Amino acid sequence: MIKLSGNSIVVREYKDTDIAQLMLEVNDPQISQNTLKIPHPYTEDDAHFWIAHTQKEYSRDQRTSLPLAITLNDKLIGAVGLDNLQKNKAEVGYWLGKNHRGNNYVPEALNLLVDYTFKELKVARLYAKIFKGNAGSKRVLEKCGFKYEGTLEKDEVKNGQLIDVEVYAKINPQVNN
Ligand SMILES: CC(C)(COP(=O)(O)OP(=O)(O)OC[C@H]1O[C@@H](n2cnc3c(N)ncnc32)[C@H](O)[C@@H]1OP(=O)(O)O)[C@@H](O)C(=O)NCCC(=O)NCCS
Repeated sequence: MIKLSGNSIVVREYKDTDIAQLMLEVNDPQISQNTLKIPHPYTEDDAHFWIAHTQKEYSRDQRTSLPLAITLNDKLIGAVGLDNLQKNKAEVGYWLGKNHRGNNYVPEALNLLVDYTFKELKVARLYAKIFKGNAGSKRVLEKCGFKYEGTLEKDEVKNGQLIDVEVYAKINPQVNN
């Protein structure tokens, strides 16, 4: 079981008992607006589906994602994780419940995930794709040492609208070939 401890928060695998807290924290239009797959409103079925999905991912031999919870005193307050996980690279994503923002929890969680991924999974490249104009997310990435690589124009569709996406990446200095 993955459990990464920081100064204020712990990043750990999801548990079945996170369902109620997940629904409470993620039910926020701002989270849905800035991410691709999180619906709003977020129903109990959505939460059950997501937790079941995480448990299936943990049991795979060859993972294609690594979804983790950001917790305070073992209570879920947000999420951080890897998606599109391949041998050489993976995409990072995160959100935090609105009552917990402004405490540096997400940069702390992302730094823990980056260290784990570079050391244990030995991926060469971590990247993030953020919707243009998401100033909070951009700042989180900059604080964690991700570098802006460019903008993909009209790369995604959200609520029927084409969205420009900014790509940030952090390279693992320990992996060379
Ligand atoms: C993006 C998100 C995770 C940031 O969480 P947070 O708790 O606000 O982040 P922090 O308080 O740790 O702030 C990180 C930095 O960003 C800055 N910041 C936060 N919101 C900002 C905004 N709207 N504009 C400019 N800077 C902002 C903070 O001031 C801080 O910088 P500092 O330490 O230099 O002062 C959170 O707002 C969120 O969950 N948003 C909705 C989902 C989302 O956008 N996920 C990312 C998808 S790519």
